[in-house]
Amino acid sequence: MTTKTALIVGATGLVGRELLIILLQRSEYKKVITLVRKPQGIYHEKLVEKVIDFDQLDENMIDYQIDDVFSCLGTTIKKAKSQEVMRKIDVMYPLMIAKLTQNIGAKQFLFVSAPTANSSSRIFYSRIKGELEDEVKKLDFHSVSIFRPSLLLGKREEFRLGEKTAELLYSAFSFLFIGPLKRAKAIQGHTVANAMFKSAQLAHNGVSIYESDQIEQLGTN
Ligand SMILES: NC(=O)c1ccc[n+]([C@@H]2O[C@H](COP(=O)([O-])OP(=O)(O)OC[C@H]3O[C@@H](n4cnc5c(N)ncnc54)[C@H](OP(=O)(O)O)[C@@H]3O)[C@@H](O)[C@H]2O)c1
Repeated sequence: MTTKTALIVGATGLVGRELLIILLQRSEYKKVITLVRKPQGIYHEKLVEKVIDFDQLDENMIDYQIDDVFSCLGTTIKKAKSQEVMRKIDVMYPLMIAKLTQNIGAKQFLFVSAPTANSSSRIFYSRIKGELEDEVKKLDFHSVSIFRPSLLLGKREEFRLGEKTAELLYSAFSFLFIGPLKRAKAIQGHTVANAMFKSAQLAHNGVSIYESDQIEQLGTN
């Protein structure tokens, strides 16, 4: 059994928290480092939590040899309040983490994107997700895994009306999501986290893109 060191950003979010719990439980990882902006209240012998200011990110904040880097960072336009701030959180922070960890020898970078990611899109959200994908693909990791989940399900501390309404509609009409529509079916945050963990163990060379139905398959089996 190889024992690796993981770094997670976004570990306090819906997907990130599930991922953190999985990595702490699994013997594949001897150490899990999280970069957070406030303490998460999780204590574990393998966990090193670093409270940082993401605007001051630099390589001195990552003073461990890292193998696998996971980014579940992101926000909503409602929380960010401007496109500029949202782009900083959804693109600049993960990209900065990717560059810093690549420079110190990390082997793989895995991150959550979105099904509509496309840097040429006229829709801001899709465009920034595509921008991050394009930029990370240019880096020199042994392995890059991009996860494009559909609507995320799971327990959130904050209430998101739009997502809650969509969640109710998805549950009521879940029988419709078969065949080509499987990709649009809502997915549990835990399933995405489990798929990220499993993909990290495969460590395929190059870029792998997981659409939502593939995440469901990998994360539930
Ligand atoms: N919601 C959906 O249905 C959906 C669908 C497809 C893809 N996605 C994407 O999937 C990813 C994960 O989604 P999620 O729902 O798990 O996210 P989430 O619950 O909103 O968590 C976001 C994470 O980003 C961190 N973050 C936000 N603003 C930050 C800032 N200014 N500085 C540092 N950290 C910050 C949060 O930390 P704090 O706890 O400190 O705020 C949290 O750890 C996101 O990129 C999202 O865009 C979401």
